[in-house]
Amino acid sequence: MSKPKILVARAIIPATVARLEEHFEVEHNQADQPWSKQQLGHKLAGKVGAFTTGGDRIDAETLAAAPELKICANMAVGYNNFDIDAMTARGVLATNAPDVLTETTADFGFALLMATARRVTESEHFLRAGKWDRWSFDMFAGSDVHGSTLGILGMGRIGQGIARRGAHGFGMNVIYHNRSRLAPDLEAACRARYVDKDELLRTADHLVLVLPYSPSSHHAIGASEIALMKPTANLINIARGGIVDDAALAAALRDRKIAGAGLDVYEGEPKVHPDLLTVPNVVLTPHIASATVPTRRAMADLATDNLIGFLIHGKPLTPLNPEVLTR
Ligand code: DGY
Repeated sequence: MSKPKILVARAIIPATVARLEEHFEVEHNQADQPWSKQQLGHKLAGKVGAFTTGGDRIDAETLAAAPELKICANMAVGYNNFDIDAMTARGVLATNAPDVLTETTADFGFALLMATARRVTESEHFLRAGKWDRWSFDMFAGSDVHGSTLGILGMGRIGQGIARRGAHGFGMNVIYHNRSRLAPDLEAACRARYVDKDELLRTADHLVLVLPYSPSSHHAIGASEIALMKPTANLINIARGGIVDDAALAAALRDRKIAGAGLDVYEGEPKVHPDLLTVPNVVLTPHIASATVPTRRAMADLATDNLIGFLIHGKPLTPLNPEVLTR
């Protein structure tokens, strides 16, 4: 019997391709060719499944080119590359990769917070440029992390992981804002206090963004929100590009309206707003918050389990639009 045909849209761990090939006829992209949306649609034609990453856009146009498609398994917890309504309308199941990256991503959020507060990359650039000729009392003096106020916007699993690190590891006073308030036991475990968005912006010494991207969170942090922040505050974005108005942030950093920023995600990435590249008080990383070897393996395994679970056994692990299963 012939195997179901699937597409793997990007280069992935070779062992993952080998595992998929045990169950499927796989067209892969181990050469990591950049495909346009039209090319992706063309490649999806005749496939019943797709292994996607956060940069592979699946919408009405790509779906129209792939009438046999039944599932797209994202190797990411975020899924703003999927038009879920269009997928549901066509009966295409969407899955993501939650949980397996929570602690790794929270670790990185904290790393970026620390690097920003203590001006790690700015001082390293100074040293590498041969500018360090003597000590001075105010050289790269930053802000304290321990005992300061940690603000978290978006209190899902990753936000809670950051809160626990801040409260228990660094004695921080943790405040958060979220669409809905956490249950009392979760608030207690995180030692976090719910506040409204204005209080969060006005009070946080370090504000970490961990909310999902959606049209309603587009530019949730722009010039007017930044204006509410303390001039000594730092802003950390490990959520998604587009949640911060990067042009407004670059201007605020240049004018020292806030002390610094740590960014792992950007509007229109992999492009980075040119003004962010010219301000010194920002730590910039290329969307690597979940990038450890074991976590990337676990994310790939979960996407694979979703494809095998659904296409072979009729049971996906982490469906995003489960209503498709009952049709
Ligand atoms: C995710 O899983 O959403 C991450 O941003 C991808 O690294």
